[in-house]
Parts: sequence; structure tokens; C-alpha cells
Amino acid sequence: MKVTFIAPEKITRKIAGVTGSVLAIMIGEGKLTGPAAELDKFTKGEITRAIANSKFTGKKKQALPILLPKGMAYNYLLLIGGSTKADTTPQQVEAAFAEAVITLNSIGAKSVTVLTEDEEHGAYAASGLILRSYRFDKYFTKQKPEKKPTLKEARIMTPDAAAAKKIFAHLGAVAEGVYFARDFGNEPPNVLYPSEFANRVREVLEPMGVKVEILDDKQLTKLGMGSLLGVAQGSVRPARVVVLQWHGGEGKDVPIAICGKGVTFDTGGISIKPSGGMEEMKYDMSGAGVVAGLFYAMARRKAKVNAIGVMGLVENMPDGNAIRPGDILTSMSGQTIEVLNTDAEGRLVLADVLWYAQERFKPANMVNLATLTGACVVALGYEYCAIMGNDKGMIENVRAAGETVGELCWELPLCEVFDERINSRFADMQNISSVDRAAGSSIGGQFLNRFVKKETKWVHMDIAGVAHPKKAIGPLTDGASGFGIRLLDRMISDKFENVK
Ligand code: BES
Ligand code: MN
Ligand code: ZN
Repeated sequence: MKVTFIAPEKITRKIAGVTGSVLAIMIGEGKLTGPAAELDKFTKGEITRAIANSKFTGKKKQALPILLPKGMAYNYLLLIGGSTKADTTPQQVEAAFAEAVITLNSIGAKSVTVLTEDEEHGAYAASGLILRSYRFDKYFTKQKPEKKPTLKEARIMTPDAAAAKKIFAHLGAVAEGVYFARDFGNEPPNVLYPSEFANRVREVLEPMGVKVEILDDKQLTKLGMGSLLGVAQGSVRPARVVVLQWHGGEGKDVPIAICGKGVTFDTGGISIKPSGGMEEMKYDMSGAGVVAGLFYAMARRKAKVNAIGVMGLVENMPDGNAIRPGDILTSMSGQTIEVLNTDAEGRLVLADVLWYAQERFKPANMVNLATLTGACVVALGYEYCAIMGNDKGMIENVRAAGETVGELCWELPLCEVFDERINSRFADMQNISSVDRAAGSSIGGQFLNRFVKKETKWVHMDIAGVAHPKKAIGPLTDGASGFGIRLLDRMISDKFENVK
């Protein structure tokens, strides 16, 4: 989408031959004011008449397109419900314009001009329009014209256009990172497997100034990543670990580490999943996708932070060479793991990834993202991400950043009792609870916790529900949503950049 920022022009002027242009204004309940009132006067009450003949009242989530008289600069006026009052947050504007994408495409809008008094609102409107306009249609060979989106351009019209453009510079960088991550999630698992994922990350991020290392299975064996490699051994596609380094801070700054589960397909392995809905397990690499998208965003906006990204990329398949229930793996940390369910593979991957990140980079703070448990979807749906960790301050940082950007998180507990449930009869631990499915998401977190050093402030984000919601929610698309990128970008810019 092409985005431009312009100073207000006369909106009532008549010009010839313009098609597909829409003027969008956010208005609240009550009397028409500002440009909407101006247009109403110019059209001799047509706007009032259109509203009176509709269900539009100006409430949130409403949208009303109104055809304007022939010869005007815009074909349509799109009224978007909400509020123009100061209590509207930029994120509410972003979500409202994200939803407006549906209406804009349904009326064939090619270009939308957003008129707003507030430059921050203008920038967030552009962000919402972009985030929701994301499509993944590369595999359609014949698409009906009426199914194709028309919207190609956003013009943000606001008194201080330069200020809006500056705010947007950050948001636009993050939106590009979100697109990058969504493509990974949506790609089919026959196309996107560990080495292909790793190569695509390198191809895009290296030219942007991110240091990218790809560790192959020989190197992983040498490092002793027996846990991660155990998961990979049932697949003909070898494992990869990708290590990203972004040095935007001062040389001496201790880095923050972001780790991601990247299971490019999760069949469950020998503890095979039921076939219904198994195709959704192509999204099981979403944690790694978020890491890729976040580093894209940080590099694009030149974040003043030192950050490390580690992605564990494997495919979980049943095979003659696959791990069995009862197998005991030795992780890089030296701790042994009895595998009682080969479908609890994400934690096996992250065990080595987390350990590696801490051993090599000694981060003070570490966040991991993983589509770890079905229990998380049962508990929190597609709307809330489960978070847990060993440091109240970091948990609050993640939660607060999520609330700000509209990526909601809810804390689940970790505790000694849960920890005891993963003690094994034959090894240091087992990869599922010894009781039943109770507190499944916490048990997953508790397992990861065994690979986190006391001195590392750590948060685990279980994105099983939010990574690929069934329906789009505001700026978050269905299919791969990219949930976590805007949250972590926000947390890093608020708490880890320019903070001494
Ligand atoms: N990738 C799945 C979790 C998942 C399920 C994500 C549904 C998104 C939607 C994970 O690897 C898994 O299979 N977890 C098991 C753990 C269990 C065996 C303890 C689960 O949730 O059933
Ligand atoms: Mn699994
Ligand atoms: Zn999985």
C-alpha cells in the first residue's frame, strides 16, 4: 500500500474523472461536526439523509459508505464510528481503520483519504489499513476479479503532515515485519521446512544489517542439542537453528534474547495427532516467525538496542527413525528428558534453544514465543496470549506492552507443585505431566523453566491461540496473525531503548 501524508485540501471541490477515491472520517455519536458537517452543507443535507436511512449512529465498529454527488473529488464518504474525542487511543483508531478495510474493498475503493485533526491518529489509521490489507494469495491461479482487493493507496490528510509521517516511520517498519512473519506462517509445510525457513530469513535480514548464522545438524550435534535433534530425527528435513544478532545499542549493553519455536509441521510424531484439523499445524512455527518479523522491524527502524534472536527449526514426523515414547534424550544443558509423548515437542526444541541463547550470549532478559499447548487455546481462546515467567517485572512489561498495542496477554501461574509433576521415574524430567492434562499450559511453562538460569529474567508467551485466529480481529488477520511482533517491538522501544 502506498502511503502519503498531506496537508488538508478543500474537500468539497469538484474535479472530473476520479474513480475509486474515498474520503474517510471517524466520527462519534451525536451532531455532525467538522468536515462531515461541511460536506453535509455542501450536499444540501445528503449526509444527514444517508445517516437517517441507515443504522449508523457513530458507535464503535460501525461504518457507513455514502455515495457523493457526481463531479466531486471523492466518490464516497466513509463514516467510521468511534469518537473524535481525546479519549480515543491511537490503537482504537488503528483497529477501526483495520476493520474499515472490508468496507473499502467492498465499494471498490482504490485510494482512501483519511481526514483527521490528530497526526498520531493519522499515522495509526495508516497502520491499521496496512495491517488488515495483508493477503496471502500467491497460490491462487485463477481469482475472480470481485474477490481481489482494490485498495492500493492511503493518503493521510492532517494539519501536521510531517509529524504524522514521522510517527508512521516506526509503525510502517513494524507492519512490514508483521507481513514478513505472516508469510512464513501461511506458507504450506511442503514449501517451508527448516532449511528453507532459515535461508529465507538470511536472504531478507542479512542485507538489512542483521547478523544471521544458520547452524546445521552437524553443528547442532556438536553442540549437544540432543533434545531438539530428537524431535527432528523422524523427518527427512534436517533441523536448523538460526541465530540473529542486532547491534543497535552500545557495545557494552547486555542483550535481550528472543527465542522462537519453529516446528514447520507438527504431526505429533509417533504420538500422532488425529487427522481432523491437522493442517493447522503448519502454523507451529509461528514463534520463530515472530522472531523473524521482530528483527525485520528492529532493523528497518534501526532500534537502539542489542538483541539476540534464536529460532529452533524442526519438522515433527512419525517415521522408522522417529523418537518413541519412553526414549530418553540428553539436552544441551546436560539434563536428561524422558519423552512420554512425542507431541509435546515444542518444549523439547525450546529446551536447547533457550539454553544455547543463555550460554552463548548471557542475556539479562529473555522472552520466548511458542505455539506450545492446545490447553492454552481452551483456556484463553484466540484473543489472549498466555504469559508466565520467573520475574514479575518482565511479565508486567510484556503484559503492559500488549495492552498498549492491543495484543492481549493473561498471566498463568508457575509453581513448585507443577514442577514436581514433570519429575520422571527414569530421567531428570519427563516432557508431560505425571498426572493428567490438568494445567497443561503451566506444565509446558514449568518444563521450559528448567532450562532457564536463575539470573535470566524470563517470560514464556504461549501463542497457540493467537498466532492463527479463525477470524480477523482488528489489525490481526486470520491465518497467520503476526501476534507478538507489535507487542515486543513496543516493549523494546519503551523499556530497552534509550533507557539507562
Ligand atoms: N503445537 C501443539 C500445540 C497446539 C495445539 C498449538 C493446537 C495450536 C493449536 C503442541 O506441540 C502440542 O501438540 N502440544 C500438546 C501437548 C501435550 C501432549 C502435553 C497438546 O497441547 O496437546
Ligand atoms: Mn505437538
Ligand atoms: Zn507443536
